[in-house]
Amino acid sequence: MAPVPMPSALTFELLGKCSVTKARAATLILPHGPVPLPIFMPVATQASLKGLTPEQLEDQGCKLCLNNTYHLGLKPGQATLDAIGGAHKFQSWPHNILTDSGGFQMVSLLKLAKVTEEGVQFLSPHDGTPMLLTPEHSISLQNSIGSDIIMQLDDVIATTSPDLARMTEAMERSVRWLDRCIQAHKYPERQNLFCIIQGGLDLDLRRRCTAEMVARGTPGIAIGGLSGGEEKDAYCKVVDTCTGLLPEKKPRYVMGVGYPEDLVVSVALGADMFDCVWPTRTARFGNAITHQGVLNLRNAAYAEDFGPIEDGCECICCRSQEIGGLGITRAYIYHVTAKETVGAHLLTMHNVYYQLNLMKRVREAIMEDRYPAFLRKFFRQLHDDKS
Ligand code: GUN
Ligand code: ZN
Repeated sequence: MAPVPMPSALTFELLGKCSVTKARAATLILPHGPVPLPIFMPVATQASLKGLTPEQLEDQGCKLCLNNTYHLGLKPGQATLDAIGGAHKFQSWPHNILTDSGGFQMVSLLKLAKVTEEGVQFLSPHDGTPMLLTPEHSISLQNSIGSDIIMQLDDVIATTSPDLARMTEAMERSVRWLDRCIQAHKYPERQNLFCIIQGGLDLDLRRRCTAEMVARGTPGIAIGGLSGGEEKDAYCKVVDTCTGLLPEKKPRYVMGVGYPEDLVVSVALGADMFDCVWPTRTARFGNAITHQGVLNLRNAAYAEDFGPIEDGCECICCRSQEIGGLGITRAYIYHVTAKETVGAHLLTMHNVYYQLNLMKRVREAIMEDRYPAFLRKFFRQLHDDKS
């Protein structure tokens, strides 16, 4: 079946392809400006990235960040969002926003969430009243938020679930919910609705789901239900199978992925967009992401280490050493990170910079058709060179 044309508020310009892997470099033009692909999107759950102001996030070169529908729907709430004219204005963010639909957060955060054909039922974490998030309500909230990319409500269950009947039901329900989302979407000419492929680790279910979703002709496609503790090999087979069936000229978003090694491998498998709370969350535990792996700066070994967080890093914290004086040192972070929020802020800045810069280098390597060599060097640095 030929995909049904659907209004879209994006343009996808393919700039280059790797001649060995399935990696692509592209520019995605969204209502709030162009976005380089591949991209890592930092997660600003409650319209703020924990530890960074919108200006600081902008200074890092971030052109697209994530908000969560469910959190914004509770606070500030739909009426306030309508009154101020959406989340861009609310958080003073001039660039693009992607919102997740909310159901996944309900199921992963609240043990009390229950899924029926109508929607996701849960008890309000504020006062315990029963609530129901339907596909229509999720889209209505995302229409009020005004995000540039909005996600369908999907039925997500743990990838590692052995229950094939439940997995099949969730996959088929996600297709039915996509149809309800398409019907409910008020502004397809200014907000891009993405579908989400489900089907667990079963490649046949994934193939069936991909065919159904592609037939609906959404402007972009996400692969969901991953990064739930499955084996890397199973993860790669799912991504590879799905991207193999997707149209070339549409963005592909793998949800919930953010470890550097998973990003570079997923790009090789043909994925373009990623998000994860890990880089910012781990910063709050004193962890710095570096080319040689993750360093925990709460370790006493750093108490008298007067080097930058990472040698050669161009982030504002690491560069402060060159700019003047001693600057931000590992020792400083070691001494403040356990009790002061400033340590978490500095590490958040470094980690977000690391992720964005990694994707920038990935993109350059793809455009110059040297991505396989880039991957070899990336893994060599990560595993061998612990100096
Ligand atoms: N975030 C990470 N995985 C998922 C998923 O499968 N669905 C949604 N909606 N959000 C996610
Ligand atoms: Zn740095």
